[in-house]
Amino acid sequence: MRSAIDIVDFSTQEIEDMIGVALDIIDNPDKYAHACDRKKLATLFFEPSTRTRLSFEAAMYELGGNVISVSSANSSSAAKGESVADTVKVVSCYADIIAMRHPKEGAALVAANNATIPVINAGDGGHCHPTQTFADLLTIYREKGTFENLTIGLCGDLKFGRTVHSLINAMCRYTGNKFVLISPNELKLPSYVKKDVLKERGIPYVQTTSLEEVMPDLDVLYMTRVQRERFFNEEDYLRLKDTYVLDMKKLARAKDDLCIMHPLPRVNEISVAVDDDPRACYFKQVLNGKYMRMALILKLLKEAGTI
Ligand code: NCD
Repeated sequence: MRSAIDIVDFSTQEIEDMIGVALDIIDNPDKYAHACDRKKLATLFFEPSTRTRLSFEAAMYELGGNVISVSSANSSSAAKGESVADTVKVVSCYADIIAMRHPKEGAALVAANNATIPVINAGDGGHCHPTQTFADLLTIYREKGTFENLTIGLCGDLKFGRTVHSLINAMCRYTGNKFVLISPNELKLPSYVKKDVLKERGIPYVQTTSLEEVMPDLDVLYMTRVQRERFFNEEDYLRLKDTYVLDMKKLARAKDDLCIMHPLPRVNEISVAVDDDPRACYFKQVLNGKYMRMALILKLLKEAGTI
């Protein structure tokens, strides 16, 4: 059974095909309005979420399907000690596809190995978040018109930020891209991404603590929140949380066609004054996420023979 656990589960061709479907959905929504009639998506969210859960639900409704959902670990049998494996075996009896978010790295894989329906990883701890990456890719494609020859700045919590790990895995497949990793020393990109992905493939990257210095070079700037929930102590979080705040002053040295992204939620990383700048793409990114989730649900249900 095909699931979506990690971005590496998808070939470049498959990702580009999904982008093609998402663009077609944007142009011809009516064509897809009944594609998933009478099918059910179960959203199992054992960790907080607003846009990811709602965008999966909106995606399924726009495909004509229905949604059943568990919106917190406390309100489900997980609170009684039920394992992820048992939960998804049960949910497989009610639904046609699962989108799951869980605080533990690897939980989505356990779910996929035990479910009899496709499982989509909507974030597993600090590990990865492939559907956010699909949203990010559609945004880069619509804003820049290409995935090649871009200088991509990733700024903030590169250690715990799962969206960053998945995005690097996707963008390093294209030629001519350079990565600029901007973070405090304590929140640098984990070595399993730096060594196994960037170094292994000979992808150019630089590490820096200064956003100001690199600003003029960037084509894409991907800001991230410091992931409070993954810190071992509050003091470290408080010390690091406001290391980078993007404001109009810092943007003065940026390119005119910079694409500013953020997976959201924003805490303090981007000043609200930036929202009105035409380079701010983070709310467009949210909408793009819904279209890509529609394309993914269609793909997995087709491969499962459900539609
Ligand atoms: C991200 C996540 O959950 O990892 N949010 C999202 O899905 N849009 C980023 C974050 O929580 O900081």
